[in-house]
Amino acid sequence: MKIQRKKTHFNVAVIGAGGIGQDHLASFKLHPAARVVAIADVSEERAQESADRFGVPEVVSDYKELLARPDIDVVSIALPNYLHAPVALDALRAGKHVMLDKPMATNARDAAKLVTEARRRGVLFMVGQNFRFNAETQTAKRVIETGALGEVYHAKTSWVRRAGIPRIGSWFTQKRFAGGGCTYDIGVHALDRCLYLLGEFEAAAVSGQTFAKFGPRGLGNGNWGKSEINTKAPFDVDDLSVALIKLRSGRTVLLEASWAAHGPHIDVNGTQLFGTDAGLILPPVQLFKQTRAGYSVETIDPLPPHVHVNRMVHFIDCLLGKAKPYVKPEESLAVQKILDAIYVSAASGREIRIR
Ligand SMILES: NC(=O)c1ccc[n+]([C@@H]2O[C@H](COP(=O)([O-])OP(=O)(O)OC[C@H]3O[C@@H](n4cnc5c(N)ncnc54)[C@H](O)[C@@H]3O)[C@@H](O)[C@H]2O)c1
Repeated sequence: MKIQRKKTHFNVAVIGAGGIGQDHLASFKLHPAARVVAIADVSEERAQESADRFGVPEVVSDYKELLARPDIDVVSIALPNYLHAPVALDALRAGKHVMLDKPMATNARDAAKLVTEARRRGVLFMVGQNFRFNAETQTAKRVIETGALGEVYHAKTSWVRRAGIPRIGSWFTQKRFAGGGCTYDIGVHALDRCLYLLGEFEAAAVSGQTFAKFGPRGLGNGNWGKSEINTKAPFDVDDLSVALIKLRSGRTVLLEASWAAHGPHIDVNGTQLFGTDAGLILPPVQLFKQTRAGYSVETIDPLPPHVHVNRMVHFIDCLLGKAKPYVKPEESLAVQKILDAIYVSAASGREIRIR
């Protein structure tokens, strides 16, 4: 990546002023070298509200206007999933540094185009996998890197909600806009964190199953998201999925994602690693091992993070040459391939080999 590091300040455009767009806007404010100069949203009302809230001088409804502006260095994309790849590709082609929210795309073919284009342009391109940045994940990574777990051979990772569908009838619950349901929406976080901790992203084979048992009955509704509801739209995505992922090394990952399911907890989002010398779970980070005195369960307080816990601050730090990109496009592409394989496996009833 041949990033231009001569600049000391970066003008940012945020595309999409919905639920997570608010977080993009708030996050860039945390970095003194970043200034959000414009917001694009097809809802001018939402864009203007956000501009007023965060002191952004300009709003537009067509994001392409912003891509044409030479004074804009960074584009931060917070759009419905089906727009991720096309808008990110436009932004990369315009020579912008791109922070893209998850999932990277709605299929690996489109995701691969983004990796190629970013490389060709020499710009910074990152998928904002925020759960990788938090103090617990960074702490767990450091503990694993000490070798305390021995050989890590298996992992379980999940994000399971009792009633957290991001509003039935929103774009999230329509396949043509979302590409998929809870697997793409929250499974992506659980998987990315787990593979990062394992230090291995490439899978050899995936066997998955998906279900839609709550959404189609109008159950399990949550309140995330800001855009319109179409009460007539069919709920045609998954609200629970499971997968067995065999990594190239032979290690395995069990992934579970659910927007809505009966269970003891309202919302659980965590990862567990199985090693020959110890096991680790997070959050909070706990280490399990046999000692002479008996079985020990140690809770490890968060260590000082080595990467800024806010992904937008980290992104700007990378542009300033103060940090190295923490989430690499190739890793996000590998995650996308696995998520896609879960859907193909569920539809075909077969284990899917990944090349
Ligand atoms: N990183 C996270 O933890 C996290 C959390 C929630 C959502 N997300 C991701 O962020 C993305 C956005 O989700 P959200 O919850 O903000 O959705 P949302 O529905 O609240 O907001 C989407 C916004 O995009 C706007 N929009 C739609 N089409 C547009 C277009 N062509 N040009 C400009 N604006 C357009 C809508 O008007 C809306 O304001 C999704 O891909 C979602 O997966 C990430």
